[in-house]
This record gives sequence, C-alpha cells and structure tokens, in this order.
Amino acid sequence: MRTLILLLSFFAATATAGESLIVLKDRLGKNQVVAQCSVCHSLDYITMHASILNRAGWEKTVGKMINVMGAPINDADKRIIIDYLAQNYGK
Ligand code: HEC
Repeated sequence: MRTLILLLSFFAATATAGESLIVLKDRLGKNQVVAQCSVCHSLDYITMHASILNRAGWEKTVGKMINVMGAPINDADKRIIIDYLAQNYGK
C-alpha cells in the first residue's frame, strides 16, 4: 500500500512538473491567454481551476489579475480571454 501511494505521488508530481507540458485548447483566444497569463505563473493555474470556475468566476479572477496583481491586459484582450476561459475551462 505504501509503495502504491509513493508511486502515485511520483506520477502526480511528474505530471505537473514542467510548464511546457501544459497545452491549452487550440481555440480563438488561446494566443492572448498564453501571452498574458503565463507572465507571472504557470498556465496550470488555469487548468487547475477549470472545474470550479464558471464564467462569473473567470471574470472575477481575470479582473483580480488585472486590478490586484497588476497584469497589463487591455479591455479587448480581457473580453477575449474571459470568453476563451469560460468556453474551454469553465465548469
Ligand atoms: C501580474 C502577474 C500576473 C498575471 C499577468 C496573471 N496572474 Fe494569475 N495570479 C498572480 C498571482 C500573484 C496569483 C496568486 C498566486 C498565489 O497565490 O500563489 C495568481 C493566481 C491565479 C489563479 C489562482 C486563483 C486565484 O484567484 O488566486 C488563477 C486561476 C490565475 N491566477 C489565473 C490567471 C489568468 C487566467 C491570467 C491571465 C488573464 C493570469 N492569472 C495572469 C499573478 C498574475
């Protein structure tokens, strides 16, 4: 049992290691998301929150990245990014 847990945590760790492993869905808006949202942290922040954030949640989160964290994202890109996240990574 202990070995199994060790093995599982090993695979979990390797699956989330390297940022290059995060490949977002290839839809309209992906370029903006990759360019703007990977500046400060890994894109796995997006995939990790896909099951808990709906459109309103993504709007709030993107707003927080801009207003609280200081992400320099203009209004046009903000709209595109929220649409992309809500459609592809919304619950
Ligand atoms: C200016 C830097 C910066 C940019 C750009 C940025 N973030 Fe963040 N983000 C942060 C910081 C700082 C945190 C908090 C990290 C922590 O708590 O470990 C965070 C946390 C998050 C979280 C975790 C949930 C939360 O509310 O804390 C999500 C999801 C997220 N960011 C998504 C995004 C998305 C989507 C974008 C692109 C629109 C983005 N971030 C761009 C700085 C940034």
